[in-house]
Amino acid sequence: MPNSTPERQAERSRLVFLVGFMGSGKSSVGHELAIRLKCEFVDLDQRIEARIGRSVGAIFRDSGEGEFRRIEHEALKELLRESDSMRLVALGGGAFAQPDNADAIRDVGAITIFLDAPPDVLWRRCQEDPQERPLRGKYEQFAELHRQRMNRYLEASWHIDSSQKTAKEIAADLEQRIHAEFLSQENTR
Ligand code: S3P
Repeated sequence: MPNSTPERQAERSRLVFLVGFMGSGKSSVGHELAIRLKCEFVDLDQRIEARIGRSVGAIFRDSGEGEFRRIEHEALKELLRESDSMRLVALGGGAFAQPDNADAIRDVGAITIFLDAPPDVLWRRCQEDPQERPLRGKYEQFAELHRQRMNRYLEASWHIDSSQKTAKEIAADLEQRIHAEFLSQENTR
């Protein structure tokens, strides 16, 4: 477990990251959970769009994935430098699969939560969601990208099966767990 040493827990930031593939429920769980935790919710893709003044789809189309990853990394670094009030962050599906991003998050000792579901479930959710997803492609490409990223996602602190539960149910479970985690950190300081 990369984040589980006592030293790491003691220095942990109060940022909580939701990670996982497209369609894993990062945004919907994030909204529900932030209400329960009474904390700010940050969707990194939305923050990028607001900062750059272009949609994620337009950045991919005009400048390519490489440029999007550079912007994404900068936006994440900026977020990590900000105040240490408790915030819940949903990352875009590829962000935690980039080693530089995962390292930067680990370096501040933040909790990372992997929302997992099988590729067919993720695909169905993406089909039903009007959001533009430049890397969705055909099902075979989608499932292959999911397979390639799996080991990266599994490096998250916690692993949650999001396939059988609603966003509200997942948020309710996570609320308890996050409170318990922060409470235990307070007690070890
Ligand atoms: C991406 C997922 C998208 C968005 C961008 C790239 C990916 O976010 O960041 O299109 O690489 O999987 P969602 O996971 O919210 O769809």
